Amino acid sequence: MPIRWENSKYSPKVKAFLSKDPLKFPLLTLLDGAVRSGKTTCIIQKIPQIFDVIGNSNLKVFSGYSRTSVRNNVLIELVPYIEDYLGGKVKYNSTNGEMEIVLWGKTYPCLVAGGGKSDSASKIQGGTWDFWYANELPQHNYEFYNMALSRLTPANARAFADSNPESSNHWLYQEKIKPWLEDDKSVKEVFEYWHFSMSDNANLSDTFIKNQSKLYNGIFKSRKIDGLWMSPEGLVYDTFNFEKHVLPHCKIVDKIRRNEFFEFFLGIDWGWYHPSVCLLMGREKGGNYCVIDEFYAVKSDVNSVINWIDNKQKEYARFFSFANCDNARPEINNILRQKTNLIIYEEKPRVEDSIALVRELINYDRLTVSDKCLNTVREFEVYRYDEDSPLKINDDCMDALRYGLFKYLTTYERT
Ligand SMILES: Nc1ncnc2c1ncn2[C@@H]1O[C@H](COP(=O)(O)OP(=O)(O)OP(=O)(O)O)[C@@H](O)[C@H]1O
Ligand SMILES: [Mg+2]
Repeated sequence: MPIRWENSKYSPKVKAFLSKDPLKFPLLTLLDGAVRSGKTTCIIQKIPQIFDVIGNSNLKVFSGYSRTSVRNNVLIELVPYIEDYLGGKVKYNSTNGEMEIVLWGKTYPCLVAGGGKSDSASKIQGGTWDFWYANELPQHNYEFYNMALSRLTPANARAFADSNPESSNHWLYQEKIKPWLEDDKSVKEVFEYWHFSMSDNANLSDTFIKNQSKLYNGIFKSRKIDGLWMSPEGLVYDTFNFEKHVLPHCKIVDKIRRNEFFEFFLGIDWGWYHPSVCLLMGREKGGNYCVIDEFYAVKSDVNSVINWIDNKQKEYARFFSFANCDNARPEINNILRQKTNLIIYEEKPRVEDSIALVRELINYDRLTVSDKCLNTVREFEVYRYDEDSPLKINDDCMDALRYGLFKYLTTYERT
């Protein structure tokens, strides 16, 4: 049911946002905070004025996690607002994302893009934009976000984004919100932050607000109701996001066929009553990493792992360069050395150092995992700290991952 704008009520914060001269905003403005606090509708209502001021010389882009999410969250309100209230016209081609908005005598070429996947950035290379609306900005891939900012070259270009809070380790919090809150002058030149609570949306009833706060508990209550950026307590990889970081296996196989990986390597954690895990990882040409496949089995001997490695080299038709293995079982590592064509390392990295490296890859969306790796994906979502060190449960894939990535990043990574 589209919003009946004639009945709208405006809180002081919304009035302040809507009455601000579009060109007085810096390059990027973020509206964040509680669910239903009116962030998206504020931007929608501001768009006609922003377009009018910026003009129609360049492309205007609307992005979200996917094109469908832009349609469901933004276009569903924007289109009736422009057509039924302002007398404009919107033509949208959902197949290629092209959109044309005709309003107050000007025609604006627009594009609707999905920004959440690891390959999203490659789809928006080239071209100059003078407006970007990022709906749910933290759900965008980090590379897409940087690419989008680099497209906004005209002096009058402006970007607006909305977001619910995520982990305080998220790149958006670390790079923009935190420095803004700490009064960092260089960030404030290019970024403005508007924080919304449900009470800033004068259109919500008190009963609705009360009921919403009963729906969530703990970390989700802090984020969704109080609108705070918080880390989930104790989770080691707290910015791992299933939607963003897990890819369908067929897409990874396509990438291998297109030669988008230039190196393959393994991380191995030996076990017996605990599972032995061997993870196949790849380094992509663009600098990202991918967990492609996993061996995960209890009470399996070294020959099963050796067979698995041989079979996987055949299946993907690629040679793997090295394995970095758990150093607790030198005799098994020796068998591996004799029976495979791999260089075998036995370098157990310090837990904190290697976790820090993996966290960095995840925080900046540089690591993806195949949906075939069920155990790895599950461990990402449950691997936790107890006090200061990670709990030694649900860590078998996580250890194999650290071993492989740490070795690659510290020895092979080319800058
Ligand atoms: N100007 C307005 N006039 C009438 N209703 C409004 C207005 N602004 C917001 N609302 C109501 O409040 C609801 C929430 O607003 P909106 O979707 O902008 O919130 P949000 O902060 O983007 O929420 P979420 O975090 O869930 O995306 C709308 O669906 C609408 O029902
Ligand atoms: Mg919204």
